[in-house]
Amino acid sequence: MDILSLQNALDLAADLEPLGTVKQIEEKVFPDGEVLTRIPQDVGLEVAVLARLYPDVNNNLVKLMLTLDALSDLGVRKIILIIPYLPYARQDRRFRPGEPISSKTVLRMLSSFPVSALLTLDVHKPYIADYAPRVSMINMYPASEFAERISGVDLVISPDFGSIHRAEAVAKVLGVTYTYFEKYRDRETGSITLIPRHDVDMRGKKVAIVDDILSTGGTLVDACRAAKTLGASVVFAAVTHCQLLKNARDKVKSCIDKLICTDTILNEYAEVKTGPILRTALQKLL
Ligand code: R5P
Repeated sequence: MDILSLQNALDLAADLEPLGTVKQIEEKVFPDGEVLTRIPQDVGLEVAVLARLYPDVNNNLVKLMLTLDALSDLGVRKIILIIPYLPYARQDRRFRPGEPISSKTVLRMLSSFPVSALLTLDVHKPYIADYAPRVSMINMYPASEFAERISGVDLVISPDFGSIHRAEAVAKVLGVTYTYFEKYRDRETGSITLIPRHDVDMRGKKVAIVDDILSTGGTLVDACRAAKTLGASVVFAAVTHCQLLKNARDKVKSCIDKLICTDTILNEYAEVKTGPILRTALQKLL
């Protein structure tokens, strides 16, 4: 099988090499900002396409659409799409009248091409797979990889109820308990209010907060402060997609004792390598 990769995912593609031949997709940006891609010659009729869509999400999404359409024109019958971090997934619902459900928009666009499967890591809400019923979404979560790096913690915390399945998965590997805080986001201003739970004793405990995205760091650091206020002695954090925007790095350093991220988005905390995880998932599809 040919594994076609956008330039910014070649490091991940190298880990998939045993399963096929990695070929780089040519990319070009015109002076007016429009983008163009070109499929390498002689691709087979079944291919995997690997795209790291973050950063520069909008340009990368267009590059991906152009690539998928070119493959379709070439008569490719089966495309396995590998998108380690699926952007636009946080708009999984229509929060205010008149807004789109952006995750649906993106998945519908992707499923208009001959995409049979979408491999991704820790999608914000797994149920968005329903927006692309013809595409089989395989959503992996690096629970073991996180757990081995935070061994010794007594409790795993989700910063909101929506992330509780992550806390549960990591806690299960560690053999410890888990809990969650309650988080409310003002959809107009984006501001967050976090309500800690007082029914779990955190005094003197080593805890780990798990989440899918670290964007500005507000959620994680509010949760960290709440845990420390409730008596936690050490707070680790394991986050899958670390964007680390604005002053997130300073915020993290002000409270978190150790942060672990994956390399779906490249950053200095990206200890967990996702290439091997993607390879295992891809192998199962071949
Ligand atoms: C939201 O529901 C996500 O799971 C993350 O908690 C959120 O995107 C993190 O954003 P920030 O770092 O800006 O608080």
